[in-house]
Amino acid sequence: MAIRHYLTFADFTLAQYTYLFERTKLIKRKFKNYETYHPLLDRTLVMVFEKNSTRTRLSFEAGMHQLGGAAIYLNTRDSQLGRGEPVEDAAQVMSRMCDIIMIRTFGQEIIERFAAHSRVPVINGLTNEHHPCQVFADIFTYTEHRGSIAGKTVAWIGDANNMLYSWLQAAEVFGFHVNVSTPAGYDINPALVAPTNQRYTVFKNPADACEAADLVTTDVWTSMGYEQENAARLKAFDGWIVDAEKMKRAHKDALFMHCLPAHRGEEVAADVIDGPQSVVWDEAENRLHVQKALLEYLVLGEV
Ligand code: CP
Ligand code: NVA
Repeated sequence: MAIRHYLTFADFTLAQYTYLFERTKLIKRKFKNYETYHPLLDRTLVMVFEKNSTRTRLSFEAGMHQLGGAAIYLNTRDSQLGRGEPVEDAAQVMSRMCDIIMIRTFGQEIIERFAAHSRVPVINGLTNEHHPCQVFADIFTYTEHRGSIAGKTVAWIGDANNMLYSWLQAAEVFGFHVNVSTPAGYDINPALVAPTNQRYTVFKNPADACEAADLVTTDVWTSMGYEQENAARLKAFDGWIVDAEKMKRAHKDALFMHCLPAHRGEEVAADVIDGPQSVVWDEAENRLHVQKALLEYLVLGEV
C-alpha cells in the first residue's frame, strides 16, 4: 500500500479532513478528561528541525507521548544532516527505525525528496512554501468558534508566505474565499498556487481586503530563513498592520488569528491580538489536538 504523507494542505480531501475533525474532537475530549488513550503505544515519531520552533516541537512531542508513543528530536546543529548527509540517505535510515517522521525545513523540495525515500509517513512541520499543520489547526479552531468555514471570507494581510499558500489550498478544499493584501514586491508567487484556484482575490489596500471578512489573519513580515531582508521588509510592510481600524471593516463577529510567534506593533496591534476577537491561544492549543488525530491517522489509518 502506498504510504500516506502530509506535505501540503492539498494532500487530503474534504472527506479526510471531516474524518480528522471528528477524531480531533474525540481526542481533545479525552485529553480534557484526563482519559488515557494510547493507540500509538510503542510507536516512535522522529522530529527533524532545521529551523527554530516552540509550538510545533511541543505539540508533536507532547502529542506523541499522550498517544502512548515516543518522540525523538533531531536538529541540523548536532545531527549529520547539518554536515551534508544527503536527505535521501537520512530518509532511508530514519524510516527504518521509527514509525513516522515530522520535518521542519527550508525548501519544499527537501521534504518531497525525503518523503520519496521514506518507508514511513512524513509530515510537513513547516517549509518555506507551506505550513499545513497550522492551517489545519486554524480551520478546526474557526469551526469550534463559528461552525463551518465553507462560504466564509478570510482576509490575509501581509506577506505571501508559507501560511498564505496553505490557506489558499485550504480555500479550495473547504470552499471559502481569501481576500489577500500583500505590499508591492511581496506578491503571491503564481507558481505556488494551483492555476485552477479561483478562491482568492488580491487587494492593493489591506483595509479593503478586511471588508466584511469573517476571519482576519496575518503572520510575521519576515519568515525564518529571510532574516537578511528584515530591514527592507519593515519599510515595505508599513501600513499592513492589523489594527482596530482594519478589524472594524470586517464583520462585527470576525475572528482574528495569528500562527505565532507575533510581533506586536508590526504585523498586529496589541489591542487586536490581545483583544476579544483574537483566538490565538486556541489556535496554538489546537495544534496539539489536530496533530494527534493526524499522527493516529497516518500510522493506523481510519480506526
Ligand atoms: N506556529 C508555529 O508553527 O510555531 P513554532 O514556530 O513555535 O513551531
Ligand atoms: N511564516 C512564519 C511562520 C512561523 C511559524 C515562518 O515561516 O517563519
